[in-house]
Amino acid sequence: MRIDIISVLPELMESPFQTSILKRAVDKGLAEVHFHHLRPFGFGKYRQIDDEPYGGGAGMVMMVEPLDRCISELKAQRNYDEVIYLTPDGETLNQRTANTLSIKNNLIFLCGHYKGIDQRVRELHITKEISIGDYVLTGGELAACVLADSVIRLLPGVLNDEQSALTDSFQDNLLSPPIYTRPAEYKGLKVPDVLLSGNFGKIEEWRHDEAVRITREKRPDLLE
Ligand code: ADE
Repeated sequence: MRIDIISVLPELMESPFQTSILKRAVDKGLAEVHFHHLRPFGFGKYRQIDDEPYGGGAGMVMMVEPLDRCISELKAQRNYDEVIYLTPDGETLNQRTANTLSIKNNLIFLCGHYKGIDQRVRELHITKEISIGDYVLTGGELAACVLADSVIRLLPGVLNDEQSALTDSFQDNLLSPPIYTRPAEYKGLKVPDVLLSGNFGKIEEWRHDEAVRITREKRPDLLE
């Protein structure tokens, strides 16, 4: 998978891809992540990329032309499955969306700044708009990292134990059951007997029942 990320602050996104599992995915060639600075596509001496909104109002708007030129340049080089704009007014990211994106080959992520992008960028290029939650960040960069992380970890070979992505919370619309490791008792708190029983049928049944119980308690909306 290849992800091209367009931003005015690409340096904000460097470290997540230089550490741990995402770094391994990149080093193994399972994911390619390319950052594209928008500034060189701007106008004039100061490489202007934003301007005042028509009709007035607070905040600046990212101009259509620098974004159009940057995205068009990428599109001329390969076919993209989706051009995704990270924005608080997009559809809220969930595991289903991450799963769907994880089987794509080429993705563009566009990070918004200021008041947002000129509407014509959406009309010309954007195929999907994603929000990572109902709150507003200073820009789309951290959201792009969250989205990339949720997708890249699903690529075959990225996680050591491929099973572990399949047993994540949300994969079956259930939260995860409680987990324990040694010691079997700590400060009077005991690991449930069933987990020590060696009876894998019973353990699976217990885990499922606990997942349903916890989901009903914390996120009843997932069971609807
Ligand atoms: N940009 C600013 N806030 C955002 C959010 N919640 N999700 C995605 N992109 C954003």
